[in-house]
Amino acid sequence: MIPTPAAKAGAEAGPAKTSGSGGGSVPRHVAIIMDGNGRWAAQRGLPRAAGHRAGAEAVRATLRAAAKAGVEVLTLYAFSSENWRRSDEEVTELKGLLAYYVDKELESLEREGVRLKLIGDPSAFGPQLMQHLDRAVERTAANDRLTLVVALNYGARGEIAAAARALALEAAAGRRDPSSIDEHVFGEALDTAGLPELDLLIRTSGEVRLSNFLLWQAAYAELLFVDTLWPDFDEAAFAQALSQFSARQRRFGGR
Ligand code: FPP
Repeated sequence: MIPTPAAKAGAEAGPAKTSGSGGGSVPRHVAIIMDGNGRWAAQRGLPRAAGHRAGAEAVRATLRAAAKAGVEVLTLYAFSSENWRRSDEEVTELKGLLAYYVDKELESLEREGVRLKLIGDPSAFGPQLMQHLDRAVERTAANDRLTLVVALNYGARGEIAAAARALALEAAAGRRDPSSIDEHVFGEALDTAGLPELDLLIRTSGEVRLSNFLLWQAAYAELLFVDTLWPDFDEAAFAQALSQFSARQRRFGGR
């Protein structure tokens, strides 16, 4: 549902604390393209699945580090709408790992005050995995220390097209004046509605591209590309990323 102007006024927005610079501030919203699981496994002569399992450990460590640092939202690209091109075996492995992770971590998410939110279209993974995911989303809905957003079957172009379609349908049905559609209204029609602005986008493994992740939301985000393979990303790597963020000058188009 598209929020009314009154609802949108209550939506959280705004960048990390001080504008004009990273200036020692903690990013409110950090997103990560977790890349390099396959290469990490290949370097060790292990199957790709072992890389994904090690990647799940890195998720645990990063979540802990983010909560400790006071980050409000951590968004992770766990499965893109393009990842269906991978082998059935790998997709099945990733689905199993997600179910295992949410079940195993649910207690600690609850204990640590972490709210789980999903973006993308996870329903494509089928009712079994959805049961695990829905349960975790429901059980953590009232938590407010940190929001862990997991992007599943997510693609930014698809997200933007869906938002445009939803707004167009509202306008066609006479429920929305087309001239009311501005950046804020559009942003609130995206999956990330209500979340703070993205401040920092990290990609691991040395690849330097966005791969259809948060294209709208990254407009003013600081981009950080690190060589570390995702399974090797840990609390220290996250702390280092935050320190690089705080040294950046952020101008948001101004001087
Ligand atoms: C990219 O590495 C990684 C993925 C597509 C999957 C990410 C999934 C996890 C880290 C597992 C669990 C996630 C959660 C949220 C619990 P790649 O396979 O593309 O690596 P490569 O480029 O080296 O082949």
